[in-house]
Amino acid sequence: MEYPNLFKPLRIGDLELSHRIVMAPLTRLRSSQPGNIPGPINASYYGQRATPGGLLISEASQIAPIGQGYPASPGIHSSEQLAGWRLVTRAVHEEGGFFFIQLWHVGRISHTSFHPEDGLPVAPSAVRPAGETMTASWETVPFETPRPLDRAEIPQLIETYRQAAQHAMVAGADGVEIHGANGYLLDQFLQDRTNLRTDEYGGSIENRARLLLEVVDAASSVWGPGRVGVRLSPFGTFNDMGDSDPVRLFTYVIRQLSARGIGYLHLIEPRSSESSGGAPLDQSAPDAATLFRDSFQGALIGAGGFTGDLAEAAIAAGKADAVAFGRWFISNPDLVERLRQNAPLNPYDRSTFYGGDVRGYTDYPTLAELESMPVGA
Ligand SMILES: Cc1cc2nc3c(=O)[nH]c(=O)nc-3n(C[C@H](O)[C@H](O)[C@H](O)COP(=O)(O)O)c2cc1C
Repeated sequence: MEYPNLFKPLRIGDLELSHRIVMAPLTRLRSSQPGNIPGPINASYYGQRATPGGLLISEASQIAPIGQGYPASPGIHSSEQLAGWRLVTRAVHEEGGFFFIQLWHVGRISHTSFHPEDGLPVAPSAVRPAGETMTASWETVPFETPRPLDRAEIPQLIETYRQAAQHAMVAGADGVEIHGANGYLLDQFLQDRTNLRTDEYGGSIENRARLLLEVVDAASSVWGPGRVGVRLSPFGTFNDMGDSDPVRLFTYVIRQLSARGIGYLHLIEPRSSESSGGAPLDQSAPDAATLFRDSFQGALIGAGGFTGDLAEAAIAAGKADAVAFGRWFISNPDLVERLRQNAPLNPYDRSTFYGGDVRGYTDYPTLAELESMPVGA
């Protein structure tokens, strides 16, 4: 086997993974409308990518309407959505896979059109991101200046995360991943470019980390810490992010997560700072897995610009315990089998990443399907 390390079992919390190839969370904007409800096409997409003992992480799923930032992203707050997620978890479990649902609140990346009755998007502070966003009707418009969350609203926000973690359990998931990366709400609290608060949720590193850690504790109260993962993107610049001292900030956060005994830490490598991977990799960027490995005692999942060779090398060198693949999992439903055989990969079509139908979603062929196609087809 070309990649022996990728095919070693791995324990995450009390789950025994049979290999170390994880499906990264991938927003595809194909939930059923109205209501942002996962449906049968989403179930077949995840089912195609599930393998016995393999871990899939869901696309980010908003915990409440105020946390939605893109049209047709699925939610995890209504009973219809939970019924939809049940179809998905069943499809993954039928293949013997494990499924974690990624819990999402986009904070200032939202737009009033997603929640007209709630008004402006909320954030730690009234700092408007540079650039443009998408409305509920798929229009591109400049970002709004968010409304700073009142201190008195924070307990309810944490409770909303706890309920979403509970909903994931009701929907039959195997755990939850807290989305603390890519410039969304929890990352906005962590980094000092977006957090200008003067209460106990802003200022010092301990204060800026408080919300994320309280959310992790809330999710752990439902699942136990071993079934909770956390995704972070140290040095990430996507969504106009930045911090004056990312090494000190993320070392603190990661040590705190380690002390809590969470199931895994999921680190996006700074070399792929643009979340959808559109930009070339920055090979001069710091290596997050190396910088933070010693601060975390549990399982570490690396992500961002990995190939089979890079993943095998990262695991062999002890830089990561597992590797999450994003774009290659979009275009290769049988990515695990292809890496097992070191077979060529289907190229991905960026134009069908977001929105649309089964095209570019559930119609990428497996190796077996390619082999049975007539020559010239
Ligand atoms: C279409 C698309 C959607 C994505 N959606 C999410 C998401 O919902 N949550 C998240 O944490 N990251 C998201 N990402 C980032 C990926 O999980 C991953 O970190 C990134 O694609 C780099 O990995 P890759 O080089 O293997 O593609 C998305 C990336 C792409 C391309």
